[in-house]
Amino acid sequence: MNILITGGAGFIASHIVDKYIAEGNHVVVVDNLSAGSLNNLNKKAEFYNIDIYKNPLGEIIQKHKIDVICHHAAQIDLRKSISDPVYDARINIEGSLNLFQAALKSGVKKIIFASSGGSIYGEQKEFPARESHSKNPISPYGISKLAIEKYLKFYKFHYGIEHIILRYSNVYGPRQSSKGDCGVISVFCKLLNEKKQPVLNGDGTNTRDYLYVQDVVEANLNALHYNGSAIVNISTAAETNLNELFKLINESYGNIAKEVHGNPIPGEQKRSVLDNSKAKEILNWAPEFNIEKGIAETCKWFIENSINKSE
Ligand SMILES: NC(=O)c1ccc[n+]([C@@H]2O[C@H](COP(=O)([O-])OP(=O)(O)OC[C@H]3O[C@@H](n4cnc5c(N)ncnc54)[C@H](O)[C@@H]3O)[C@@H](O)[C@H]2O)c1
Repeated sequence: MNILITGGAGFIASHIVDKYIAEGNHVVVVDNLSAGSLNNLNKKAEFYNIDIYKNPLGEIIQKHKIDVICHHAAQIDLRKSISDPVYDARINIEGSLNLFQAALKSGVKKIIFASSGGSIYGEQKEFPARESHSKNPISPYGISKLAIEKYLKFYKFHYGIEHIILRYSNVYGPRQSSKGDCGVISVFCKLLNEKKQPVLNGDGTNTRDYLYVQDVVEANLNALHYNGSAIVNISTAAETNLNELFKLINESYGNIAKEVHGNPIPGEQKRSVLDNSKAKEILNWAPEFNIEKGIAETCKWFIENSINKSE
């Protein structure tokens, strides 16, 4: 299969690139390296260092006879989306539309999209949240993700382009950046690598559904072979609070830090956990990594790579 992966030099999509290539696909990557790195990029991928918002993408899609687009490029910083919603919409909404228009003109039949369950549902009323849960995003980032989902429905309805929308929970693992507020696990690992003291926001009882990146990769592999369109949560359906998470990470580093709490972040979501029974049913997918196994793998990688040294 010929596959275009946007954001393929970034954290999640670079792992998907590796897997798609290992499975014998021809993979083309588009990434402007605003957050991604060439160090993440598989050498066998054809790479275009361009911006999905500014550049016409039709030529690339046609040249490589792309069958499927796996769309992961995005502005992912939630706080940045709050401070600059125009920038967020430019990259996440306009950039996606630019890509979808190119796909339409070039005859692409299927788009896999990295959406975000954690930010689309907002403060949950049901636990874990099923795909039918009410959608109340409270950040421009979440609003963008929901808007893109709606646009994909439009492209299916009017033009027959199929979509697999994968609503991830909180993804973590090797190669995750510790810049911005993008991932508490990579932030803690970076601090502990440098023998610095992490500070837990608030009392540490906020929960998230932490999902190991290799499980996300498997979901993207199964999505390639799904016929039709679907919206699916990709999650563990298990909640872990910040205190438990810190304890696990600190243990991997030989308990070098103390549990220190700071001020809570105003408006931060209290609980987030997503049901994954639909993914089991229609994608034949289930997570393989529980939090203990995933954290152990992640810390091992961060220790071995001492990554993000330059950040
Ligand atoms: N990390 C998570 O927990 C999580 C959860 C839900 C959804 N997602 C989604 O998964 C996708 C990948 O996230 P990630 O955590 O790997 O982030 P990431 O920042 O590592 O990856 C995003 C990639 O997109 C590239 N990019 C950004 N703007 C671009 C543009 N205008 N043109 C071309 N490339 C551009 C970046 O350089 C980067 O390589 C995103 O769409 C994100 O919203 C992530």
